Amino acid sequence: MKSILTKCLAIGLFAFTIAANAQTYNDLHIPDTLSGTVFNLTIRDTFLQFQTGNQTITGGVNGSFWGPTLIMNKGDAVQMNVQNKLNDSTTIHWHGMHLPAVMDGGPHQIIPPGTVWQPHWTVKNQAATLWYHPHLHQMTQEHVTKGIGGFIIIRDAQEAALPLPRTYGVDDIPLALTSRRFLSNNQMAFKLIDNYGDYELVNGTKNPKINLPKQVVRLRILNGEIQRGYNLGFSDNRTFYVIGNDLGLLNAPVPTTRLAVQTGERYEILVDLSGDAVGSTLDLKAYNVAAELQLLTPGQNVFGWPGNEGNPVNPTGNNGPINSSLLNNVNFNVLRINVVAATANPILSIPTTLVNNTYWTASDATNSRTINVTGGQMGTAFSLNNQFFSLNTTNQTVNLNAVEKWTIVNNNIFGHAFHLHDVPFKIISRSGGNMGTTMRPYEQGWKDVVWIPIGGTVTFVAKFDDYADPTWPYMYHCHALTHEDEGMMGSFIVKSTVGTSETETVSPGFSIFPNPVQSRIFIKQEDPEAEIYYLRIKDASGRTKLMLPQPQISGGIDVSKFAAGTYFVQLTDQKTKAVSTQKFVKQ
Ligand code: C2O
Ligand code: CU
Ligand code: CU
Repeated sequence: MKSILTKCLAIGLFAFTIAANAQTYNDLHIPDTLSGTVFNLTIRDTFLQFQTGNQTITGGVNGSFWGPTLIMNKGDAVQMNVQNKLNDSTTIHWHGMHLPAVMDGGPHQIIPPGTVWQPHWTVKNQAATLWYHPHLHQMTQEHVTKGIGGFIIIRDAQEAALPLPRTYGVDDIPLALTSRRFLSNNQMAFKLIDNYGDYELVNGTKNPKINLPKQVVRLRILNGEIQRGYNLGFSDNRTFYVIGNDLGLLNAPVPTTRLAVQTGERYEILVDLSGDAVGSTLDLKAYNVAAELQLLTPGQNVFGWPGNEGNPVNPTGNNGPINSSLLNNVNFNVLRINVVAATANPILSIPTTLVNNTYWTASDATNSRTINVTGGQMGTAFSLNNQFFSLNTTNQTVNLNAVEKWTIVNNNIFGHAFHLHDVPFKIISRSGGNMGTTMRPYEQGWKDVVWIPIGGTVTFVAKFDDYADPTWPYMYHCHALTHEDEGMMGSFIVKSTVGTSETETVSPGFSIFPNPVQSRIFIKQEDPEAEIYYLRIKDASGRTKLMLPQPQISGGIDVSKFAAGTYFVQLTDQKTKAVSTQKFVKQ
C-alpha cells in the first residue's frame, strides 16, 4: 500500500482545473457488433491517434482500442476463434459468463503468440451486459491498458418482451469507462504506479460526445478501469433508473441520482430525455471529489475509495506521484450528451417492473467459507487469506451444485472490488466499514463483483452448478488490476461428487488421417467411447498453433492455413487426463 506514504507529498501541489482543456468533444466510438454463433476475434498490436502528436501504440481486438460488442442469445451454442497476433502470450476471459472452467480464459488458459484458441459453450446466462478481457497473470493491467477487451450483450426472451430501449448505438449505448496516463511521447503508461489514468476515455474516445434522442435511453455502463471507482451522476442532478447490474435485470427499476461503479462492475441505466429540449446538452459526470463521495456514505471517511486518495496532480516526466492523477479527488466529465429529435417508435416511459428473480438466501446455503483481505502493509502487495496467487495452487474446492455462503472480510487499509468467476451471486448482507449495514438498492440482483470498503464485511450466496472440472480452476480476485496482478487472487475447483472413473483405464491412443494432409485432418481414437478433454496442435519447433478445449471434431480440423511442415497433435483424454501425441505432415 503506497498511498498513505505519498498522500502527504501530493497534497496542495497544484490547483488544476480539468474543464480547462475539455471544450472540444470527439464523437463517442460505438464498437461494431458481431452476432451469430461463431465469433472471430483477432488480437494484435496496433495504434490510435488519441491526441495531437505521436500515435499511441495500442492493443486491439479486430480494431485499435476496445473490441467489437459480441451479441449472443441465451441458449445458443457459441464458438469463439481467438487468434493471438501479439508478440506476447495473453488470455481472453469471458467475464460473467457461466461456462466450463477450461473455456473460461483465466490465467491458466494461456494463448501463446501465433495461436488460435477455440473455446465453445452454450449460453446459459440470462440477458445481461458482460465483457471480455485479458487475464494473464501479472500481465492483466498491461494488456487491458493497451485496449484489449470488449462488451458482450446477452439477449433473451424475457428481456425482449419488455418495453426497453434496445437499438444498439441509437437508444442503447455501451459505455466502457476507463482512464489512461500518457507519457511525453503519447504512449500509454502501464507500470504498477500508473494505477490511475489522467485522461478519461469512453470506449477509447477522449472527451466524448454523443447525440441521444429525446426519449428514454439505455446506457450500459462498465467500469473497465485499472483501479478507479466512479460515483456517477448527471450535471443537472436528475434522477435516473438502474434496471440491471452485472448479471441481469432487476425486479424493478431503482431510481437514484448517484451510482457507485467499481472496477469490473456493470450497470444498465435508463435516462429519460423526453422532457429535454432538442439542442440542449447534459453531462454524465464522475462526482469523485471527497465531499461528493461523502454523500454516498454520510459522515464517514471516504479513504479507500480508489481514485479519491492523492490529489489532482499533473504527472511530471514519465510518471506522476504514485496514486495521484489529474482525475483523482475531482469531479470530471465522462460523456457530453446532445439531445436530438426522437426516433420513430421511441420508448417514452420507465417501466414499473422488469423480471422476476428468485434469489438464494442464507438458509439455502449448505456450506460457508470466509476470505480475508490480507497484506497491503507499507510497500507490500495485497493478498487473500495470506496467500498470493499461484498458478499451481488450488485455494478452494467447491462441490458441484453446492449452494455456498461466502463472507469476504476486509479488515485492511483499502477498499476492494471482489469478483467471482463462473456463477452469479446474491449479496445478502453488509456490515462494518463506511457503508455499515447499508446495501445500496441498486446492489440487488445477480452480481459478480462486490465492493468491500475498508473495515467492511460482505456475505453473498451462490450456487456452483453445471460445470465440474478436476483439473482447471476458476478464479476469485480483486478486480483492481494492479491488486490482481500483484497476487490478490485465488482459485477454486468445482468438483463433481459422483464417483469419477479414474481407475478405469481408457486408452488415449489415436491416429490421424489423411497423413500427409492438405486441408483437413480427422482423428480416429482407438476407444470410440473416449472423449477428448483438450487438443493442441504444435509445430516442429514446439510452438502451439491451435488450442481446442473439449473439441467437437467429427467434421475434422481445418489445417489448410498451416504452413507446410511437420506438426504434432497432442490429445488429452477426458477421463484419465492422459496425454498422447501423434505426428502429421502438412503439404
Ligand atoms: Cu474480469 Cu477474473 O475477471
Ligand atoms: Cu471474471
Ligand atoms: Cu483490491
